[in-house]
Amino acid sequence: MPDIAYEQARHGSSIGQPLTRRDGILKVTGAATYAADNRPEGLLHAVMAVSRIARGRVTHLDVAAAKGHPGVVAVMTGANAPKLAQDPDAKDNPFMFRLDLLQSDQVRYAHQPIAVVIAETLEAATEGAELLAPRYAVEPARIGLDVEAPQEPEAVGAGDKTRASRGDVEAGLAEAERRIETVYETAAQYHNPLEPHAVVAQWDGDRLIVDTPSQALATAQMRLAALFGLDPKNVLVRSPFLGGGFGSKGFLFGPQVLGVMAAKLVGRPVKLVLRREQMFGPVGHRAETRQTLRLGTDASGALTALDHHTLTATSSFDDFYEPASALSRYLYAAPAVSTGHSGVRVDTGTPLFMRAPGEASGSVALEGAIDEMAEACGLDPLDFRLKNYAEAEPISGRPFSSKALRECYAQGAARFGWDKRAKAPRSMRDSAGRLVGYGVGTALFPALMMQAEARAEIRADGTGTVALGAHDMGQGAWTALAQIAADGLGIDLDRLDFQSGRSDLPNAGIAGGSAHTATAGSAIHSATSAVLAQLAELATGDERSPLYGAGNAGVFARGGRLLRRDDEGRGESFADILARAGRASVSAEGKAAPDPASREAYAMHAHGAVFAEVSVDPDFGQIRVTRLVGAFAAGRIVNPRLVTSQYYGGMIWGVSFALHETAVLDPRSGRVMNANLGEYHVPVNADVPAIEAILVEEHDPHVNPLGIKGVGEIGITGTAGAIANAVYHATGIRVRKTPITLDRLL
Ligand code: MOS
Repeated sequence: MPDIAYEQARHGSSIGQPLTRRDGILKVTGAATYAADNRPEGLLHAVMAVSRIARGRVTHLDVAAAKGHPGVVAVMTGANAPKLAQDPDAKDNPFMFRLDLLQSDQVRYAHQPIAVVIAETLEAATEGAELLAPRYAVEPARIGLDVEAPQEPEAVGAGDKTRASRGDVEAGLAEAERRIETVYETAAQYHNPLEPHAVVAQWDGDRLIVDTPSQALATAQMRLAALFGLDPKNVLVRSPFLGGGFGSKGFLFGPQVLGVMAAKLVGRPVKLVLRREQMFGPVGHRAETRQTLRLGTDASGALTALDHHTLTATSSFDDFYEPASALSRYLYAAPAVSTGHSGVRVDTGTPLFMRAPGEASGSVALEGAIDEMAEACGLDPLDFRLKNYAEAEPISGRPFSSKALRECYAQGAARFGWDKRAKAPRSMRDSAGRLVGYGVGTALFPALMMQAEARAEIRADGTGTVALGAHDMGQGAWTALAQIAADGLGIDLDRLDFQSGRSDLPNAGIAGGSAHTATAGSAIHSATSAVLAQLAELATGDERSPLYGAGNAGVFARGGRLLRRDDEGRGESFADILARAGRASVSAEGKAAPDPASREAYAMHAHGAVFAEVSVDPDFGQIRVTRLVGAFAAGRIVNPRLVTSQYYGGMIWGVSFALHETAVLDPRSGRVMNANLGEYHVPVNADVPAIEAILVEEHDPHVNPLGIKGVGEIGITGTAGAIANAVYHATGIRVRKTPITLDRLL
């Protein structure tokens, strides 16, 4: 039923503009205040001592030596830590991760916090923490996927089904003309936002103010309230700027809570910042996987069966299983598909959502297996993908709400020059004699919707406010959301006061699952539409207004005016409408949530196709990605500049996944041996090729009122597989283990 909300979603002039980040100047000039930049009066510095073993007990800490160090104010251990109102090991839901808050002498993983030293200076706290010289009762660490017989977890990821299937895979494989079974392994990875987790905590009686980077302000606020027995209204969490998150800041973790406990213990504000090394343990990671895929095709190359099973690891004390098989439920058509997961428990910190959790690891395996199957059928990898294109979601059978993947393949292939690909591996060389390979990978990420609230106001001077506790991890969310807000109110962006990044604003949900712009944007749209509906009622019901009788569905707003849909020349300014009504302002609240009926009826995903060119030194195995072209269809594009930049970032992560990133765990100590940005490799500029991202047009009437799908995570999917397939095409060597390092080509 068309109404002003429906109309307004189509009449904006700000959505679609390639604006630069609104906070860009603040950031590049250093004026933006990140959590650790806050220095309240009387601030003390806290430094964590962390475990050097992965399993056992702490038997001794030299608290006296640390306390005796000049400048040290207090040493917080299990003996004197403030009592908590909630057990840090309690778990009421899958999103409530167990925390290490000095509740016992048990060590569950390396780099687990075991004490906190609080001092007048950072140096004194650091030296004090060194003086604790912990002693341990050590038990052997259990590391790797072969430590025990795998178990089937109750749920994977954020509570997804462990298994899902359709049809009879064994029968499909048995009747297949050709079949393959292949095993892919992906490495453990650790989120490494440039800004480590940090907290500045201030207590004022039973009121608490916490500055900390967060992808979910309200969740952090509620967890703090529960842990400290506070009324949530008395807990304020502020996150104006984040230096990246990638999922690791979606939840409050132990070190942040320890900073709050330290402030309570000493009765002064405390700052606690993780050292880079301390990021490798208590704040989540992407667990390693071993994925077994079995595929069969008929004589024409059509899949008869696809089976995708993932073995992964979680911690000894909590549950998060990388849902790497899940995307095989969504991507390729086959009469029989089965997906499942199993897991083992190891002595690491609990794994977590990490940018494209499940899809990133799963995609590199699935796209590799699809490439292998295409070759077994003697088909071009792109033709094989088109042959097995899913017109409906493979397992659920639901139609897609929209799917422009065919256009992604076509536009990407044309731009890349896929038709110049020689069929045989190891048959292309560049002018310097290096081996050249082309590879393709399909990208997919679910188009999720979560819950959010927002508040909006229009004032008589023609300015407006939109407020919600939304999060900008650096990707430009506050710019995109402000564009939605300005269009929603029908005002120019420079007339908009956009407030965000605090837990005392309406709850904007979580910046995760690539769903923040869609979800928070929908809440904004709902609030701004409610404001306009009030204005429309004031105007269209008043004989003195040129809009009289037009009705709610007969007007829309632009440039601070309500206009008639049937005659845009006739309208009235917000100021005039409010003045005649004797009102200073109108305001309203709005909410967004997934629509159960449309979510039931349709499968909703963003899609893409990534094409990679690599060059490989035939003697030394050195691999260079020389070109990447990604074509993505993700519904309505709010800001093409920012979206392009998200795709670049995702594809660069794909380079990282394919060629660089791995956490090396010492099986004896259980410690990450490369817990620093020097040895934990991520691509640097010299590793990043010419990248292109094509924004493929797609209109989706079902995902949400604005037609927005997420763009934050899809770029990683497809890319790593495309690169691995290109390495095979260049060399004729199929490396089924990422990162693909040069020793694996020799
Ligand atoms: Mo993302 S891994 O949902 O922050």
